[in-house]
Amino acid sequence: MKYNVVTSAVIEQIQTIVGNDYVLFDEENLDKYAHDETEDLKFFPEVVVKPRTPEEISQIFKLCNKENIPLTPRGAGTGLSGGALPVNKGVLLSMERFDAILEIDERNLQAVIEPGVITEVFQNAVEEKGLFYPPDPASKGSCFIGGNLAENSGGPKAVKYGVTKDYVLNLEVVLPTGEIIWTGANVLKNSTGYNLTQLMIGSEGTLGIITKAVFRLIPYPKHNLLMLVPFYSAEEACAAVSAIFRAGVTPSGMEFMERDALIWGAEHLGDESLHIPENIQAHLLIEVDGNNQEVLFNDCETIYKVLEDFNCDEVLFAEDSVQKDKLWKIRRVVGEAVKSKSIYKEEDTVVPRAELPILLKGVKEIGAEYGFKSVCYGHAGDGNLHINIIKGDMSDDDWNNKLSGGIREIFELCIQLKGTISGEHGIGFVQKEYMDIPFNSTEIRLQKDIKGLFDPNHIMNPGKVFM
Ligand code: LAC
Ligand code: ZN
Repeated sequence: MKYNVVTSAVIEQIQTIVGNDYVLFDEENLDKYAHDETEDLKFFPEVVVKPRTPEEISQIFKLCNKENIPLTPRGAGTGLSGGALPVNKGVLLSMERFDAILEIDERNLQAVIEPGVITEVFQNAVEEKGLFYPPDPASKGSCFIGGNLAENSGGPKAVKYGVTKDYVLNLEVVLPTGEIIWTGANVLKNSTGYNLTQLMIGSEGTLGIITKAVFRLIPYPKHNLLMLVPFYSAEEACAAVSAIFRAGVTPSGMEFMERDALIWGAEHLGDESLHIPENIQAHLLIEVDGNNQEVLFNDCETIYKVLEDFNCDEVLFAEDSVQKDKLWKIRRVVGEAVKSKSIYKEEDTVVPRAELPILLKGVKEIGAEYGFKSVCYGHAGDGNLHINIIKGDMSDDDWNNKLSGGIREIFELCIQLKGTISGEHGIGFVQKEYMDIPFNSTEIRLQKDIKGLFDPNHIMNPGKVFM
């Protein structure tokens, strides 16, 4: 697609819509909005716009359609697949002023919020009322709910409580054509028409801009227990995951970390308290939660019993909330820690939980064949393995020209195992070249046709999801 440049006449019209203070085009701001957390990619927008109402967004969309200018929406910029990068220049629409929690409805256990609310801020606000919004991506302290909706974010709690989509009842959306719609109703059951709510979730900012979201909430579980289990073999750690579920326990967290993931995470935080023996290859971080502490201790006993069948070292049982926080902090910082160590690429593979050992083994074999090292970690209970491919000693030529063959092989293995190529980070800009692996041409065409229905001029977030 060919797009027009943003002229000063267009900028003046945008200023009339949102006010001069909310239209930025100085170098410093263009630079600030040129990247997210995806590798080291940089794409500069021509103008950054910060609207405050759905009506303003509607007018901006209409203008972009008329002038044939691309528009890329952006939340907090914590994305890991480049979804918020303005790869075709044009307007970068930042949702940061949509930051209100509009209602916490304690009668119905629901909340209505705007997309620029930080996930953790929302979680804390509902927790004050004894309520729980579980989806908790690693970046929960800085990411926006809007980005979580766009990517259908998960996080450690997803294993018991589900992902973002499982909490959304209804959405207000500004379509790329400028029309404003509600996708559903504020109800727990809904068999009325097509499910536009779920179509929007995970659509990566390509079908419309969510301006309000209605969430369901659940009561906050009163207690939790956390343990860190060291394994002599990473594959065995992966095998223990499905065994624990089969024994009848559904943990509220079931995270896998290869040796280097845990060590680098702790190092990144300057935490020297964990002693990890030489022969430990991986850890599982396992949490159980609920309202009855005795039940939780029983769950832990069941888990211990399962672990007897595996070769693991002494389990570290978190003694208090300080130790629990520390362990979770280390887990959450792994991605950032790897990033600070080396040039890397992050894959977000997911397979049925019991196939995890085969996936891990395959990743290492493919790595050996292509000459890359990988540090794997992630939401093992969901079969969701984050694979951080480290450049290390790989030559620039191999990194730039051969690595994608290795990534392709990893993704093909995921599909063979009945999994897929992204569990929570999305396809965005960096994974779109691999979309032919999970989908055949009919499946791609259907999706592209849907995109065309919502955005006939292809002005919204072009260059994402599909080639
Ligand atoms: C995590 C992010 C990278 O699980 O998804 O740490
Ligand atoms: Zn994750």
